[in-house]
Formats: sequence, structure tokens, C-alpha cells
Amino acid sequence: MTILFFGDVFGKPGRTALLSRLPELIAQYNSDFVIVNGENLADGKGITERTLKPLLSRSVDVITSGNHLWDRQEGLEYIAEEPRIVRPMNYPPFAPGSMNYIIRKGDLALNVICLTGQIYMPPCDSPFLAFDSFWDAADQTLPLFVDFHAESTAEKRAFGWYVDGRASAVIGTHTHIQTADEEILSEGTAYLTDAGMTGAHDSVIGVKKEIILEKFRTSVPHRFETSDQGLMINGVALDIDPVSRQATRIERIRLAVEE
Ligand SMILES: [Fe+2]
Ligand SMILES: [Fe+2]
Repeated sequence: MTILFFGDVFGKPGRTALLSRLPELIAQYNSDFVIVNGENLADGKGITERTLKPLLSRSVDVITSGNHLWDRQEGLEYIAEEPRIVRPMNYPPFAPGSMNYIIRKGDLALNVICLTGQIYMPPCDSPFLAFDSFWDAADQTLPLFVDFHAESTAEKRAFGWYVDGRASAVIGTHTHIQTADEEILSEGTAYLTDAGMTGAHDSVIGVKKEIILEKFRTSVPHRFETSDQGLMINGVALDIDPVSRQATRIERIRLAVEE
């Protein structure tokens, strides 16, 4: 099976860039499943029905997330009701969103989960122990895609090794900066430290760069505004053997989009 995954889709520029090229990417890779990290869909912060529905109605199968998932009060009810929104598993049980989502198409099935890291991140439970508890109760015959949403490269790398052979893929998100360390680990788990951001790259991780420069220069907080310059799609394509559950290919996607 072939999976396309796109890293943090940021605001309207990210949504527009992704949807403009998604049909041809699906055709190019002959992909079966499309997964998107959507924690920044609504102007950089959170998910709302208005910002997510166009993706779900146009070939996106499931949404992973991270620390920003619940930033929009008006989106919380929708997040609680839409099963295809997967929340970080290692947050308190009251947080809206699905713990996992199994996509089924024909004979193919894929289990999707998301966890957040603990280093330089908002407080959460251990992703390592949360994964163990999940895995003990999971259907271990299904391939498993993990979005590991974290800041620390060491924590991400360690988690990749920790679940090597259990997860079919561990793809990092959250930094919005794509790394070039894609590989298949020794027990068959496809690994990439960060898939990067889909959105405006003439920016500082999605926000107009002038605003962030001024914030760093003066230490005075300024209201963030989403950049719309330098649109780019960042993500990864994966091939997974549905029987062995092992990855057979990992290829980064880093594609400039004409504006
Ligand atoms: Fe993000
Ligand atoms: Fe994040």
C-alpha cells in the first residue's frame, strides 16, 4: 500500500497549496491513503469545520494533529464529533478527538495514531508508555502509521527506534522544517524526523517573517499573521507491505507551488 502524508498544513495558504496539487500527487504516486497533519489548519492555530471539510471531501482520509489541535474554541465540538480527527494519544482522556482511526479501503486497512513529545512541549504523558499501552490492546495485524509530533530531534529519533518493528512508519511533525534523514530502520519502520510544513515558506514557520523578527528584536509579543508567500508542499510518500507490515520505501516530498 502507498501512503501520502503531508506535514503541518498551515492556514489558508497551506490548504490552498495542498488542494491545488493533491490530485496529481495521488496519481503520480498511485497512493491508497492520504494523511494530513492539521493542527495549524485554521489560520495557524487549531481545526474548525470550515477549514477541514474541504480536505476531507477531496481525498484526505484522516487528520493527525498536535499541541495546537484545540486552539479554536469554536472547533471543539466538531473535533469531538468527527472521528477522522486523531488527537495526540498521550493527552488526558477528556481532550476531544479520536485516539486512533483505522482507514479501510477494499482489502487494505491502516491504523493511524499521533503522539506528542515531552521535551520543549506542553505537558503530556510519556509517549513511550502511551504507545506500549496502545499496542498491547491494538490489532497487531494492521499496518500502523504514527505521527510523532515533537520538538526534540533526539526524542523523535529515540521513539523511532523504540517502536521499530511495531509501527510501520514514524513520521515527525511540529517543527515545520523538513529534515533529510529518511530511512527504513532495521526492523522495517519507515522513519523521518520531520516532514516539514505545507504552507508559506517565505516566513518563519508559517508566520509573516517581519512580525517574528520584530518579536525577537524587541521581546515584545506581536499578533501573528499568516504569510502567503513562497508556497510549498512538504511531506512524504511511503510504501508498506500490508502482510509483513514493514515499509519498503520512504521518499520525501518537497514541492514548490506556483502562486
Ligand atoms: Fe504545527
Ligand atoms: Fe505543533
